[in-house]
Amino acid sequence: MDNFTFYNPTKLIFGKDQLDKLKEEIPAYGKKVLLVYGGGSIKRSGLYDNVLKELAEIDAEVFELAGVEPNPRVTTARKGVEICKNEDIDVLLAVGGGSVIDCTKAIAAGAKYDGDVWDIVTKKASADDALPFGTVLTLAATGSEMNSGSVITNWETNEKYGWGSAHTFPKFSILDPQNTFTVPRDQTIYGIVDMMSHVLEHYFHTTTNTELQDRFCESLLRTVMETGPKLLEDLENYEYRATILYSGTMALNGVLNMGYRGDWATHNLEHAVSAVHDIPHGGGLAILFPNWMKHVLDDESAPRFKQLAERVFGVDSAGKSDKEAALEGIDALRAFWNSIDAPATLRDYDISDDSLELMAEKAYANGEFGGYRTLNKEDSLEIYKASY
Ligand code: NZQ
Ligand code: ZN
Repeated sequence: MDNFTFYNPTKLIFGKDQLDKLKEEIPAYGKKVLLVYGGGSIKRSGLYDNVLKELAEIDAEVFELAGVEPNPRVTTARKGVEICKNEDIDVLLAVGGGSVIDCTKAIAAGAKYDGDVWDIVTKKASADDALPFGTVLTLAATGSEMNSGSVITNWETNEKYGWGSAHTFPKFSILDPQNTFTVPRDQTIYGIVDMMSHVLEHYFHTTTNTELQDRFCESLLRTVMETGPKLLEDLENYEYRATILYSGTMALNGVLNMGYRGDWATHNLEHAVSAVHDIPHGGGLAILFPNWMKHVLDDESAPRFKQLAERVFGVDSAGKSDKEAALEGIDALRAFWNSIDAPATLRDYDISDDSLELMAEKAYANGEFGGYRTLNKEDSLEIYKASY
């Protein structure tokens, strides 16, 4: 285990009918609120009206930024920054999924920066401050509700990058499983894949003696694999939604990866795909992850893969080499994702093989990557080809 400092200041407010907590949380930061949301799901579900009611009760002056895209764009973040600067906004409230929250993080940091917010995303400038913001989460997937990370896309340059800062943790996040009842089946699947992928990114690391951390990861994966399929048969089941919502938060709020750093190459590969093709993040991960696994599986890595295969996928490794057991585990992961109708090849999104080279270039834009195994452009291309 490596030395570590754990820091996560986000207040998590979890459970049924917790929206009235907005009245307690928002006033601490001021009166002028910028409400940030997506393409309309919160209007259809009625959540938008309910949020406005709560804000009216505390006499908040509400400004709005609507239309945050899935895979949020820097152009939208810039609009939000402008509103914050022109209107002297005190606090932001993100109501939506990971995209809305990520965009809000960029706006919050951009509002305190003199130049273009894209400088912060590309790390040309650091986010030294940010406006305070809270979230009302509507989709279980990214963990953005309790971490400081944000992923922003620039369609002019076909770049999609993650960034983060100590100032971009939400002050509070309200997680009511009922607010996820309306998430359609496909987005529910992508969310399941995304949270599982976050755990898998953690799981592959080179640090020794992570006994408890390994088992935390394994239990989260097993829980999601047990509950996910039941949820997909019963999308408005409160208990299943609650388990998946809590799992998504725990998968990427820093609790699982104390004392080691994970791999994250597959996320880099996926961000390069969705920088070029506007596909859902979880869909891209389902296609790529098993192929990354096969790419890095060798005699040295096989014991780690075998542990995952045995403990999470119930592979009986008796009489098998480590590599054979490992491969069975990778196949079991693919089979599980197939069983919940996650995509399995880039062709599922009509991505032509003409763009594989460009995606490999994008993945390699900042040089070699991957904490467990280092990948370069050629590795990326091989994984994309295997995913085609
Ligand atoms: O825009 P609206 O109308 O709200 O619709 C959204 C969107 O179309 C819809 N949706 C959300 N909640 C709903 C709902 N529809 C019905 N009922 C609800 N309750 O779902 C669609 C997808 O939403 P989005 O926010 O894009 O999904 P997700 O939460 O998966 O976020 C994906 C983004 O997060 C980034 C991804 O790269 C991608 O850009 N990530 C952020 C991370 C982080 N900040 O830590 C880590 C992740 O690995 C990931 O990279
Ligand atoms: Zn992810």
